[in-house]
Amino acid sequence: MAADADLVVTCARLVATCAGPAPRRGTAQRQIGALADAAIAACDGHIVYVGPAADLPAHVHLHHDAVRVDAGGGLVVPGFVDPHTHAVYAGDRRDELRQRIDGATYEAVAAAGGGIASTVAATRTASVDALVTAARPRLNTMLACGTTTCEIKSGYGLTTDAEVAQLRAIAALDAAHPVDTVATFLGAHDLPPEYRWDRTGYVTLVKDEMVPRVAQERLATWCDVFCERGVFRPDEALDILQAGSRAGLRPRVHADELSASGGAYVAVAAGARSADHLVFVEAAGVRALADAGVCAVLLPSAAFYLKLGRYAPARSLIDTGVPVALGTDRNPGGGLSPSMPFAMALACFAMDMTLEEALVAATLNAAWSLDLDDRVGSLEPGKQMDAVVIDGDLIDLLRVGISAIRIVIKQGRVVIPSAAVPGDP
Ligand code: NIG
Ligand code: FE
Repeated sequence: MAADADLVVTCARLVATCAGPAPRRGTAQRQIGALADAAIAACDGHIVYVGPAADLPAHVHLHHDAVRVDAGGGLVVPGFVDPHTHAVYAGDRRDELRQRIDGATYEAVAAAGGGIASTVAATRTASVDALVTAARPRLNTMLACGTTTCEIKSGYGLTTDAEVAQLRAIAALDAAHPVDTVATFLGAHDLPPEYRWDRTGYVTLVKDEMVPRVAQERLATWCDVFCERGVFRPDEALDILQAGSRAGLRPRVHADELSASGGAYVAVAAGARSADHLVFVEAAGVRALADAGVCAVLLPSAAFYLKLGRYAPARSLIDTGVPVALGTDRNPGGGLSPSMPFAMALACFAMDMTLEEALVAATLNAAWSLDLDDRVGSLEPGKQMDAVVIDGDLIDLLRVGISAIRIVIKQGRVVIPSAAVPGDP
């Protein structure tokens, strides 16, 4: 019997379904499930058909008022999933980018009173409404770049109430904005100034007061820690992640971003779903991640804007069998780009990933890193109809400075209509 449909996408030269099973690792990370001359139909926000356009009438009964999206001979890919952002914050640190252009390092800027501490000061005085108002345009920009689902972390409050306020803002955005959001509690993002000389006291506060409250109020799915030289040590990170796990907050880790911090081993020991950044991960850490099946969430845009001078060893991660995902790390300091296609461009041109690997990293594997692959990350019947229509070829996504994205569909609704971007082959 033909399935009912209220939206159909036709005239696609190619649909890259990125179909599962997830995660894709090793050579399987190159499989994008390409279907030529395909159509997609959806009903009530969920996909009911993906297959040859010629077979559409036999499989689908289109409502008389169905929305018809003409892909114009372009490509259709799944909506991007951004698995690592810090998009809810107050204040403005764009001057730090200028300082870095002039040669200051991330750590030097932080030591001079900038960095996370500066955003914490601004965020602590902001109301939930103010945080939502500040973050909404950021989500709009992400959506225009093709992101239909994203993770957002707290971590700029660093008191129980201010962390809770940030997480409430994330929940409010999820309810009110087309981009679906998933919340991560990152109370261990930095030591707040009032605990500068009492590390143990702060770790205890995170474990014994923040974690139980966040879990009890169901404000986050995940718990993250910034395991880094000068921030949280591996033993402290593990302690916090284990307290999170006991309370039902699942672990993920900022690992080996600015130095070989041991974060990859913490991720393995904590049973984390992802280890993020990994710019300085050692070969043994790569093997440990592969053996444990931890996802590597790589954030090359952060390495770029932080001028780290190097990138995560994506090639060795993939070749060793670690599932690799990409994210933007949108944040007030080094997270200037909201664009998953920019992260893909860096993945291909700075980290030696193939275009197909980068696409899977930005979709299915990113969804898996958030344990959302049953809902999003690929174009398959039963999944949400989250899709991006691209002008031209897959390679055109990697053009930096001009968007090849023509249409964005979220849960079966056209949310970014055909932009006035003329074809420019
Ligand atoms: O992922 N490293 C820690 N957190 C962010 C940066 C946050 C900030 O600078 O505000 C990151 O790079
Ligand atoms: Fe981050």
